[in-house]
Amino acid sequence: MPKAGHAGSSKGGATETFLGSCYLSRLNVLGDDRGSLIALEGALDVSFDIARAYFIYETVEGVVRGNHAHLELYQTALCVSGSCIMVLDDGSQRREVSLDGPDIALHIGPMIWREMHSFSPDCVLLVLASEHYDEADYIRDYGDFLRAVEARAKT
Ligand code: TYD
Repeated sequence: MPKAGHAGSSKGGATETFLGSCYLSRLNVLGDDRGSLIALEGALDVSFDIARAYFIYETVEGVVRGNHAHLELYQTALCVSGSCIMVLDDGSQRREVSLDGPDIALHIGPMIWREMHSFSPDCVLLVLASEHYDEADYIRDYGDFLRAVEARAKT
């Protein structure tokens, strides 16, 4: 299965690409008179083999999370409840994305600095990841991130 690029064909359709390796996709909402259901399928909605899932919830008002980039990791993030703002930065451009519906999936490639803020009280931010947790894959200092982007550009 590809580690990079878009998922084979997002069943939900509409995708928007930005900052090179990031894109948004709209997930299909399956609903009937009992309520709603959203499914994420490997290769179709997520471009990597899912090795890990985690979720962030009960975030304290005013908190900013993230503040890091990953060297190799791919992630897909969505607010299964509530909303938050994700700021993405590739070292030369910044882009703000509002995750304000459970059908909005944000796909983030390696070497993207991210910050999350404006969590609603009911926000549950679900993140699917291509690798197990590995602190060695993190860049947690923005200056180090900019230097790493520059170094990669030279290779
Ligand atoms: P942290 O990276 O600070 O969260 P975020 O960047 O999303 O705000 O993670 C908080 C703590 O949880 C930190 O001690 C690392 C740990 N952690 C895991 O053990 N496994 C995981 O999959 C993640 C994402 C974090």
